[in-house]
Amino acid sequence: MPTTSGARSGPGTSETKNGLSPSEVPTVPDAVTGPTPAGVGTGVGPFSAATVAAAAEVIARYPLGRQRSALLPLLHLVQAEEGCVTAEGVDFCAKQLGLTAAEVHAVASFYTMYKRHPVGDWLVSVCTNLSCSLVGGQDVYDRLSKKLGVGHDQTTADGAITLEHAECLAACDYAPVMTVNYEFYDGVDTAAAEGIVEALARGERPTSTRGGPLCTFKEVSYQLAGFEDPRPEGVAGAGFLEPSVVGLTIAEQAGWQGEIAGTQPADTTTPAAPPADTTTPAAPADKTTKGA
Ligand code: FES
Repeated sequence: MPTTSGARSGPGTSETKNGLSPSEVPTVPDAVTGPTPAGVGTGVGPFSAATVAAAAEVIARYPLGRQRSALLPLLHLVQAEEGCVTAEGVDFCAKQLGLTAAEVHAVASFYTMYKRHPVGDWLVSVCTNLSCSLVGGQDVYDRLSKKLGVGHDQTTADGAITLEHAECLAACDYAPVMTVNYEFYDGVDTAAAEGIVEALARGERPTSTRGGPLCTFKEVSYQLAGFEDPRPEGVAGAGFLEPSVVGLTIAEQAGWQGEIAGTQPADTTTPAAPPADTTTPAAPADKTTKGA
């Protein structure tokens, strides 16, 4: 198996140019060392030729010998084709990156964005963490669970909508929040949340509060693999709204300049005292002198 450029120092070399010992230099498979990775132009297992080519493009973004860093986007890529990370998807990523299936599985099972069984077109995530639950997040989740007839990590019978509890979605300033395929719906109550899933069930794509138009789960998985949304309006959206900057707004209105609470602001009108002279050694104490 060929190795990275650093490993080409040859047998007997104790240290390579990049400072790694030969045993530390990662090896990579043929598929990621050459300009034309193996498998490109043909499908691999359940994966299409387009996915194989996309995988090669993702891997090529990483320095030679560091291709294993492509694992996270590759997992999104296989999810984009199959709707979740299957055993075949794990094997595909492992073969492309020269990893073991166990190593890939360890990563895929750690992050909640990698799904182990098929997700519907619409992944509805309701934050039930503290800030949201204090203002009704759990009520929203319970109402949707009852309406859809599914629990956490379950999909409706028609395969369209998957519901899940979510931990903090980093939007506490808009609590309670829910997302559909990671687009935010801010400040929802039970009625608003019901309206959103009813629209999804009718085949509509309800407008999110701050993001672009909704994508299906497979489409957004492809974007998370590092490929742009081809729709011109895909990057539209407010991004952030007033609640995200309310602290900054208050600070600006109060004329705060960044002082730390409880301290005096720096007096910029008085010249600073010169630094202490550290070049003059202190006189040693005369231990023989008796007190006066
Ligand atoms: S607790 Fe819900 S977004 Fe932070």
